Amino acid sequence: CGIVAYVGPKDAAPILLEGLQRLEYRGYDSAGIAVANRGIKVRKTKGRVADLAATVPARFKGTTGIGHTRWATHGEPSDINAHPHLDAAERIAVVHNGIIENADDLRHRLEADGVTFVSETDTEVIAHLIARAVKETDTLEEAVRMALKGVVGTYGLAVIDAERPDQVVVARNGSPIVLGLGEKEMFAASDVAALVRYTRQVVHLEDGELAVLRADGFQTLTMDARVTSKEPLTVDWDAGHYDTGGYEHYLLKEISEQPETVARTLRGRIDDRFHVAHLGGLNLTPHETRAFRRVKIIGCGSAYYSGQIGAQMIEELARIPADAEPASEFRYRNPVVEHDTLYVAVSQSGETYDTLAAVQELKRKGGRVLGIVNTVGSAIARECDGGIYLHAGPEVSVASTKAFTSTAVAFALLALHFGRVHDLSPADGRRICEGLRRLPDQIEEILKQGPQIADLARRYVGHSSIMFVGRVRGYPVAREGAQKLKEISYIHAEAYPASELKHGPLALIGPEMPTVAIVPDDELLDKNLTTLGEIKARGGQVLMVGHRTPDPKLAEDVIVVPKNETELDPILLTIPLQLFAYHAAVALGRDVDKPRNLAKSVTVE
Ligand code: G6P
Repeated sequence: CGIVAYVGPKDAAPILLEGLQRLEYRGYDSAGIAVANRGIKVRKTKGRVADLAATVPARFKGTTGIGHTRWATHGEPSDINAHPHLDAAERIAVVHNGIIENADDLRHRLEADGVTFVSETDTEVIAHLIARAVKETDTLEEAVRMALKGVVGTYGLAVIDAERPDQVVVARNGSPIVLGLGEKEMFAASDVAALVRYTRQVVHLEDGELAVLRADGFQTLTMDARVTSKEPLTVDWDAGHYDTGGYEHYLLKEISEQPETVARTLRGRIDDRFHVAHLGGLNLTPHETRAFRRVKIIGCGSAYYSGQIGAQMIEELARIPADAEPASEFRYRNPVVEHDTLYVAVSQSGETYDTLAAVQELKRKGGRVLGIVNTVGSAIARECDGGIYLHAGPEVSVASTKAFTSTAVAFALLALHFGRVHDLSPADGRRICEGLRRLPDQIEEILKQGPQIADLARRYVGHSSIMFVGRVRGYPVAREGAQKLKEISYIHAEAYPASELKHGPLALIGPEMPTVAIVPDDELLDKNLTTLGEIKARGGQVLMVGHRTPDPKLAEDVIVVPKNETELDPILLTIPLQLFAYHAAVALGRDVDKPRNLAKSVTVE
């Protein structure tokens, strides 16, 4: 799941371990490093990077090396299956993200030729293939290129060769690789998080590109050996973004940052004179914008739920039909791509494989795709025709919070922009602009309720299952609230449209299953209160999240959030649910920032 590589004058091991620690947030089950120094030295283990560091002796010297954190796909988590993987002669070491689809076939062919495998991984196949190729060519990059010719699947990989201890070769196809440019030293990683401590100058590899790194520079080439030229990009994130900053968990830090991160998403984008949004990155003329008759939003997990909020905002403010769908489903159902539909891909990381593959499929079919992405220069951002960067800063905790909120804010800007190109009046435009400006202070107010929400969460953690309901604008909020709770507390949570409760799930309601109800002060308030009555009549307990305290007969608990414009309220209603999930997870002693079985960005299918 995470890759780091180093070549330069310093000892590689401490740099690799530090880099791997920076990637821990992505989720993993085993870790390993290798250095080239009169042969290949390897240390790898199931468990944490700290466990790995404990096995690395002081004499583990070498100034060229690679490291990896693994999230099991082929073969269970174990010391043997951990990366790096070596060839039989222990000359080549490889770390790899992604999945090799023809691994079984390649393995059988190699075994028929007398190669003995030690692990169950698809990666080991690559080590053996490179070891063969390296004998037939003059350079390591050529050997890697030859080996990859026969490989079908996705990879981001880094390779070292005992016979060439002054270089690292990396390659990318569907799984990110970023080069970090230092002073007389070079780095590579699957994520800039591993690099920012050492350099801000980065180069993103494209799919089908390889690079050879030496202390004094790098060269990139394509799979057909054409040399490519790359402009380095400066990233504005620094190492401080990756510290917990005095908070107990990254998650709490990221929840608490939201007044500032929302302000950053808005900065420079609201025009108070004409009550429009400035979104230069869209690359769409007003004429083109008007020509779209439909908006289709795709993303995975929380990105998808924020897309649902976005779709409602676009329908309401611009009166253009809009809907959201999981990118993973979209790409597998051979979607009809229409010339008058605008597609919007949402991704915090910009690397989620399902979303990237959906964007690529759209582009193949001639679709126009915008990206709402947090990570500048990421694969999805590069693939899209234009878009909006969130500027929320790096999100480290696996469960998304500030990126979710900033995405909803970015959608509000997009909806305002589309609306003002269509029929949204200047007065309504002004109302939305003013509402957006109020968000940071209102989030601050919600955060002040942290201690009360923590008390509430502690009272609810005894339940093994919690229902979340919301109607129309409240429904995606309920889904995201349930998602947060599931992800980090492992309490079963189910989100339902409040209107659908009576068509099935009401059968579940009773004293043992409480309901979190999202009840904004909008035109659906009375309908929602009726639903609460139905729940109470079945002996259900209710925690209401809304804008006022209801009749105590309808809800025993309530979280009141500040009211904004009706269209923007979902942004604020989500914040207390983040805190609720966080405090529930803490109360249950969960690994809040790294929940079991999950990864921050899923770069495999
Ligand atoms: C993973 C994470 C989720 C996240 C989803 C989409 O499944 O565990 O928290 O919402 O990926 O990630 P993205 O980076 O594309 O927003």
